Amino acid sequence: MGSAELDEFIERVSERTDIYSVVSRYVTLTQKGGRYWGCCPFHNEKTASFTISPDKGFFYCFGCHAGGNVFKFLSLIENITYFEAIKLQAQRLGIDLPEKKTTPEEERRRREEKSLYKVNELAQDFYHECLIKTARGEIGRKYLLARGISAETIETFKLGYATDDWENLLTNLTRRGFSPEQIEKAGLIVRRKNSPGFYDRFRARVMIPINDVFGHTVGFGGRILASADDTQPKYLNTPETEIFNKRSLLFGLDKSNRAISTAGAAIVVEGYMDAISLFSAGVKNVVATLGTAFTPEHAKLILKYARKIIFCYDSDEAGQRATLRALPIVQGAGANVFIVKVPDGKDPDEFIRKHGKPAFDELIKNAETLIDYRMNYVLARADTSITPGKLAALREILPVIANIKSNALRTEYKKKIAAALLLDEQTIIDEWEKISSSEQDEKLSPVKVKPLNNQDRSVKEACETILRMLWYDEDPLDYVLVTVPREFFTETQQEILKRFEICREEGRRLDKISAANELSEAANTELSRILLSGSDDPRAKEVKFFCDAVDILHRAVLRKKYKNLLAQADEYISSDEESYRKKINESLNVKFKMDSLKKV
Ligand code: GTP
Ligand code: MN
Repeated sequence: MGSAELDEFIERVSERTDIYSVVSRYVTLTQKGGRYWGCCPFHNEKTASFTISPDKGFFYCFGCHAGGNVFKFLSLIENITYFEAIKLQAQRLGIDLPEKKTTPEEERRRREEKSLYKVNELAQDFYHECLIKTARGEIGRKYLLARGISAETIETFKLGYATDDWENLLTNLTRRGFSPEQIEKAGLIVRRKNSPGFYDRFRARVMIPINDVFGHTVGFGGRILASADDTQPKYLNTPETEIFNKRSLLFGLDKSNRAISTAGAAIVVEGYMDAISLFSAGVKNVVATLGTAFTPEHAKLILKYARKIIFCYDSDEAGQRATLRALPIVQGAGANVFIVKVPDGKDPDEFIRKHGKPAFDELIKNAETLIDYRMNYVLARADTSITPGKLAALREILPVIANIKSNALRTEYKKKIAAALLLDEQTIIDEWEKISSSEQDEKLSPVKVKPLNNQDRSVKEACETILRMLWYDEDPLDYVLVTVPREFFTETQQEILKRFEICREEGRRLDKISAANELSEAANTELSRILLSGSDDPRAKEVKFFCDAVDILHRAVLRKKYKNLLAQADEYISSDEESYRKKINESLNVKFKMDSLKKV
């Protein structure tokens, strides 16, 4: 669709969207003043600090600082892109998407995908029938039975068996009208090297269909029957195809997504068999990666259903290292990451079969946070018998702790480390100072928040008032741009001011749509915060309020100048009386100007 059509579409959806009815689907809202309040869906809280203002069309959370317009809300809560949120809302309102003309290339791709789904589906049926109905499948049935997998589980996961033949699947699927090239594209057969023709990729294996989240079968994992034969890999997977991408698929998610939603958490395991075994034991909120590290794409998939991701890995060292390296990134993607180590080197499958579901639930209940996990990981490997070993461990852990937002929690962790490393707290404090002051770790170090005094606070409020006024009435913009000192606006606020200016130059208004499109994430959030932090008192729109705010900023500039002059005067106090007097006089002039500005 063209960009004019697109704009018109967005406009139409936006006009008919009311933020209250959208948000109230997800959050219980109560009215207070001109606004609605509720518990924020984006962080855990007991008292309501999340607010929406229906007439302004914005939401903002005073706890976690999430904010923006209604589409931003939808994109956050549904974990979809901004544009997907607009489309979702359009769908809910019954507004048709502008006709999208498909190019011949897109048409070809769509046909190809369809054919790949079909080939995989037929292959799944073929392997499944073979397992449950044929004499040659008996060896597979016996294997699964010995692993404690019930007929019901075989049915649920549509497990199958590929016989020990070279062309069994190939013959069956070509008979159904598929060309070898199509089957090859699905990764199910392999082209022969030294002679024409193809052969089955999967032979003499128990077949585990892998589905996308919609339930389409997109590939397979094939497990060899006995692990004694180590010339063959234990698992063979479908190679990458147009519909099979290990980085963005999670085994089991098509079956577990609802349970993940309900539980508010997903359990991630490493093996197909672990997922199958947990699921059939009643732990339904489980998924498995496909033998690769966990990626941010995986996290994104899960985040559509729950914020909490619990990794349940066996304790073998190699696996842990590789797979857990990605976890800070996952945490960065907005997930709350927890880790469970299955005791005695067992995998989740063995554990739950031996100890039962209650014992497994207990493991999950005691999952470690990512921070605890990393701390214990370092501690377990540190040589704490010598001071250099202790310090090395400390330096590895402190940056992790610097990432913790809560002050109290940080202190608690510092105490824990002091105890674990048998270090006195002063050593911890010293090392902490080092990392907080070193430039390169600036991002990691906690922000030193200086409490605002009254003057600072009124300056901060003045900046916000001015931006709020401009939102409703752009007339004073030129005045603001020319006369109001910018130095007290934060960088983000200056971006908003700049955007007002650009819109004015282009003869349009900054509104909630253009704000969402043109402002950075940070500026958008800040704008929502500002619009929702002001009182809904109609006086807020009065000119007097605005003039007061401008005066406050002018006074603040003068006050700063005055203080500077006094400090300069101080430097001359015992050496150069003349310069001292001069500076004092200048400062008095400034003070006079300051006082002549009406006190507000
Ligand atoms: P079982 O031995 O059947 O219980 O396997 P498991 O599901 O417990 O898997 P395991 O812990 O041995 O390995 C974890 C995952 O890594 C498997 O589910 C596969 O996705 C992958 N994997 C393991 N071995 C191989 C292999 O030989 N080749 C490939 N491509 N992947 C493997
Ligand atoms: Mn296993």
